[in-house]
Amino acid sequence: MNTVLFGKNGQLGWEFQRCLPLLGKVVALGRENLDLCNLDAVQETLRKAGPSLIVNASAYTDVDGAETNPELARTINALAPGVMAEMSRKLGAVFIHYSTDYVFDGKTDTPYTEMDPTHPLNVYGKSKLEGEENIKQAADAYLILRTSWVYSLRGNSFVNKVLGWSRKNSTLRIVDDQMSSPTWARMLADIAVLLLAQDQGNQFEKIRERSGIYHLAGSGYTSRYEWAKQILANDPGRSEQTIQTIEPGRSTEFPTPATRPLFSALDCSRFEKTFGLRLPPWDSTLALAMAG
Ligand SMILES: NC(=O)c1ccc[n+]([C@@H]2O[C@H](COP(=O)([O-])OP(=O)(O)OC[C@H]3O[C@@H](n4cnc5c(N)ncnc54)[C@H](OP(=O)(O)O)[C@@H]3O)[C@@H](O)[C@H]2O)c1
Repeated sequence: MNTVLFGKNGQLGWEFQRCLPLLGKVVALGRENLDLCNLDAVQETLRKAGPSLIVNASAYTDVDGAETNPELARTINALAPGVMAEMSRKLGAVFIHYSTDYVFDGKTDTPYTEMDPTHPLNVYGKSKLEGEENIKQAADAYLILRTSWVYSLRGNSFVNKVLGWSRKNSTLRIVDDQMSSPTWARMLADIAVLLLAQDQGNQFEKIRERSGIYHLAGSGYTSRYEWAKQILANDPGRSEQTIQTIEPGRSTEFPTPATRPLFSALDCSRFEKTFGLRLPPWDSTLALAMAG
């Protein structure tokens, strides 16, 4: 089997680089290989590679930056996935794509299902929603996996930010009015490869028949404040922390260019039932991620 992976250097893309080769040959592309703003190049790259699987782990994920770069966010998050989707149909390939809890406005207190109406509050969320629409229109065989609060132990993730702050400050103040489900990038990649491996001998028939949007995130939900406390508690280098106290704050104390939904936890039961998998609780996954 032949796979093209976009976004190989991101949190999720890195994890896919680790496990996709278990399925066969992988052409893994990062910005240095292909700028996704060049839509013709995206099309041509896929035409030449002729994959049976396309995985898009790339995105314009700078939620605040998108407010001042809406066209760039739209090109990467909506137009490029549309081209990938169209090519997947032409090539008879399966397309795996990731979307976001930020397609919702957060004005609820129960986890969102796939049936709930979308209403993004910021440019990033709007661009990701347009990407979903473009894929639904262009692709035949696809999974759009909406996820939330993705972290890894690499790069500028929330986990690494908290660990960095914990070594420079005596007090941390973290918002406790934003709630969602922390999701380990490695778990997302492993789940996709597990599904694909189960279905590979069958030409991905099960995935083709179940094409659509699914919610996929760590089980349960929490506030950023509680998440930060768990990160500090699981820190293998706790002795290096200078933190004395961690305090809950409100989003209004930390104004940002982009408005974020206050409650954006995702109900993942449709994914669990459809694919016969149980998603582990976000906090036990975090403990495992930080232990290794
Ligand atoms: N992070 C979250 O909290 C979160 C929450 C919900 C959903 N998601 C979704 O989950 C998926 C994976 O997110 P992630 O956190 O792994 O993202 P990430 O770490 O920001 O990685 C995104 C990758 O896309 C690449 N990219 C951006 N613009 C590009 C361009 N013009 N040309 C080529 N490559 C480009 C980036 O390249 P560079 O490394 O060169 O910049 C980066 O490697 C995305 O679809 C995202 O929308 C993420």
